[in-house]
Amino acid sequence: ALEKSLILLKPDAVQRRLCGEIITRLENKGLKLIAMKMLQVTKELAAQHYEEHVEKPFYPMLEEFITSGPVVAIVVEGPEAVSVVRGMMGKTNGRESAPGTIRGDFGLSRQVNLIHGSDGPEAALREIGIYFQAEEVLSYKSSL
Ligand code: CMP
Repeated sequence: ALEKSLILLKPDAVQRRLCGEIITRLENKGLKLIAMKMLQVTKELAAQHYEEHVEKPFYPMLEEFITSGPVVAIVVEGPEAVSVVRGMMGKTNGRESAPGTIRGDFGLSRQVNLIHGSDGPEAALREIGIYFQAEEVLSYKSSL
């Protein structure tokens, strides 16, 4: 089915100048960019986004990291976009991600891992609502 996924290029991707590289991979794959913005994640936004992790022992570190600098939020659309993006990202821990994946090619960390992608179509809709107003998510034809 046609799906949307919310992607965040995390502060390490911005600091390492890897945003273009990662966006190029998404575009080359054939995913359609339908929303994009740069923003500073606040503690409040982090808690909303990561509500399932707020009580976890690693949350304070995750909060510190995700609020440490600007991120790029993107909505992509495509057939089974959620699982397609997750495949392109690789496993959470860069040490375990396969070569050819974004985390596998560019990182060694479990936490500072460049990119977030929604883990299901329902999570995607929830997360898109956190980062974007409805009118910021565009609808346009692209035949190729
Ligand atoms: P992501 O999958 O985008 O969303 C949850 C994030 O929490 C995950 O990326 C990692 O950055 C971080 N994370 C998950 N598990 C751990 C862990 N055990 N220790 C530290 N950070 C973690």
